[in-house]
Amino acid sequence: MDESPEKSPLIVLDEVDSTNTWAMRNFETLVDGTVIAAVFQSAGRGRLGRKWQTLPGTALTVSAVFKNVEKPFHAGIIIGLAGLELIREYAPAAFSFFKWPNDIYIRECKISGVLSEGVLRGGCLRGVVSGIGINVNQSSDDLAVLENPATSLSVLVGKKFFLEKLRFELAEKIKKYYIIYQSNSGTVLELWRDENRLIGENLVLNMPDGSVRQGCFTAIGANGEMCLRSSDGENFRFDCGDVKIDTSLIDFNLLENKCKPKQ
Ligand code: ATP
Ligand code: BTN
Repeated sequence: MDESPEKSPLIVLDEVDSTNTWAMRNFETLVDGTVIAAVFQSAGRGRLGRKWQTLPGTALTVSAVFKNVEKPFHAGIIIGLAGLELIREYAPAAFSFFKWPNDIYIRECKISGVLSEGVLRGGCLRGVVSGIGINVNQSSDDLAVLENPATSLSVLVGKKFFLEKLRFELAEKIKKYYIIYQSNSGTVLELWRDENRLIGENLVLNMPDGSVRQGCFTAIGANGEMCLRSSDGENFRFDCGDVKIDTSLIDFNLLENKCKPKQ
């Protein structure tokens, strides 16, 4: 079987519970780099048992099979970069960036989330399935039912998009970044770090026990963890799932200005 990601297929399912679940179930028979998309996902999943909610025909719900990554969290980087590039192409004026650990934001609103899951067989990691949801044609009313502020390409640019075209383009971008990663993973990791626009910012973090911690997000560690330096100089490392950034306290005007390319 040809295992090169250039030739890996795009599978489009009309309806599925979750593209991640489907890809995990069928992992053994899928070629490395296969992209699976759903027209409608009835039980989309976020991290930690949370739901990813999309109405039929309004969003991109796509997963990919990665059998050849150096570290599991790299799979989310590959699919995340593909998603960010697509969002930038269709909403170039919007300030889009990665919000650690796994989201794409437009200022204070989430437009996309990534869920990566390791595939274990007999206690060994065989690969990773990484899925991305991108809000495309939802109206502000559709998004208002979500727990946290969210946006879509359509809300940003004021028109509806042809989902089939975007789905194909996203699949091509995932393959492109996977190919670049395989020849030079460092370039891809550097690109991803550059787009994590909260690095260098003072942040307030909500801890699982309800307490709050404050400090400067200094770097992302070798395993994707957040490195934080508190005001008294103490250094901390947090894995995703351990903490939640309080985005309501970030000054997005300031951040956007800081990130604008100098004229
Ligand atoms: P973290 O900051 O740790 O990533 P999170 O709140 O983003 O936390 P996740 O598990 O990454 O949590 O994602 C689930 C979140 O996404 C939930 O808060 C849920 O309300 C929200 N959500 C669900 N569907 C959508 C959607 N289509 N668009 C934007 N947000 C959504
Ligand atoms: C998050 O922000 O928590 C991650 C959301 C990930 C959603 C995508 S949609 C395609 C794939 N299938 C799923 O069930 N989840 C991911």
